Amino acid sequence: MSRLLELGAKIDSREARMGVVGLGYVGLPLAMEFAKEGFRVTGFELDGEKVRILEEGRSYIEDVPSADIARAREKGLFDATTDMNDLSQMDVINVCVPTPLTKTKDPDMSFIVSAVEAIKKRLRSGQLVILGSTTYPGTTHDLFVPILEQSGLSCGTDFAVAFAPERIDPANKKFKVRNVPKVVGGETALCTELAVKSYQTIFDTVVPVSSSQSAELVKLLENTFRAINIGLANELALMCHRLGLDVWEVIDAAATKPYGFMKFLPGPGLGGHCIPVDPTYLSWKMKSLNFAARFIDLATDVNGHMPDHVVERVAEILNDERLPINGSRILILGVAYKPDVSDMRESPALDVINLLRSKGGVVSFHDPHVAELDLDGVTLKSVDLSDDMLSSSDIVVIVTDHSGIDWRRVVALSQRVFDTRNATKQVSEGREKIQKL
Ligand SMILES: NC(=O)c1ccc[n+]([C@@H]2O[C@H](COP(=O)([O-])OP(=O)(O)OC[C@H]3O[C@@H](n4cnc5c(N)ncnc54)[C@H](O)[C@@H]3O)[C@@H](O)[C@H]2O)c1
Repeated sequence: MSRLLELGAKIDSREARMGVVGLGYVGLPLAMEFAKEGFRVTGFELDGEKVRILEEGRSYIEDVPSADIARAREKGLFDATTDMNDLSQMDVINVCVPTPLTKTKDPDMSFIVSAVEAIKKRLRSGQLVILGSTTYPGTTHDLFVPILEQSGLSCGTDFAVAFAPERIDPANKKFKVRNVPKVVGGETALCTELAVKSYQTIFDTVVPVSSSQSAELVKLLENTFRAINIGLANELALMCHRLGLDVWEVIDAAATKPYGFMKFLPGPGLGGHCIPVDPTYLSWKMKSLNFAARFIDLATDVNGHMPDHVVERVAEILNDERLPINGSRILILGVAYKPDVSDMRESPALDVINLLRSKGGVVSFHDPHVAELDLDGVTLKSVDLSDDMLSSSDIVVIVTDHSGIDWRRVVALSQRVFDTRNATKQVSEGREKIQKL
């Protein structure tokens, strides 16, 4: 117990050494915040290429400027390694590894397990280990802690464990690491206290909850809430198409209600590592308790079919002009899962492109943030948004509304446009060429 009590003082004095396992979209910004606060931070990353880039003082995450990495390294406050042995030197270890789904859409815990196995081998008393990867309720208590205790040390007395969900929103200019409150739930009251103390150094607000399970469910509630509301907006878009109404106008007008309504928008499908994946972690867990998470299943179904709807609409629009998808030149604008990022994980653009290609469409794409796409062995390169490319395409499909694209020009030069994001809402000239989701 006493070594754990010493940890509090080490955090206060910034002598505690911070380890971050997994230096991706979540781990790297977190590591930088600790370094900015004066902690000596070591990043543990399996990908040697990422480590090499960081060791050169450069960044590969859009939200983390290379200058921050270089500055932290000059001050001797940040290093990155593939060698897990130094984990034993860390006082606090944050685990930020991926939690995707397997091919059969079950939680893939392999990254968490490999990370915690590596920590277990080097575990010593006085360490605090915080899991930040999004996961089902019970992961920390039923999977993470038992593996760590195989070391012979006890959680809560020799070492501490907490779960603290990550809420980072890449490319968000207003909400960065510091000004988004951090939720923390420890395995014991002391575990929570230590995790709160470590996060109070870099977060403006820390919100303790009573257990790691509660903290795990907080994250799943947040993203399930979004997935379900986006599902409702998507279903409304399907209804509006049949009613001959403009879903964007209906939602914008409803959003003028100052209470009791929250605006969510439809789109070509869900993307990113979180919203399409996280609710499935919860429904999977509930299945093991013989409970069907019906809202989640319905939203997953509606959202998952949006790429099919996009392709049906493209077929309808071309059909009106006596054109088949087969052989038509189709230009996809934006393939990242959301505006102004390069992240392609789970992007609906992938499904849309694959479906169009499977029907014989001659598909090109332009994305200022994505240089190339790998589609089951076929590589597509982002094309220039030239006058000729726009005017020679039979249809331009807006899938991601990146800022910096001149939508007036796109509409002016294109023969016809299918806009799944209402990106062209300000365009007045040539509206007859635009069809919206
Ligand atoms: N990206 C987001 O916007 C976001 C937001 C909130 C929560 N999350 C959650 O945070 C977690 C991490 O997501 P991410 O987007 O940072 O993933 P990522 O893929 O960008 O980064 C994870 C990193 O971990 C590394 N890694 C994997 N196994 C490892 C191991 N055993 N040891 C060391 N390194 C290892 C990978 O090489 C990768 O660089 C996930 O659970 C995700 O759901 C992500």
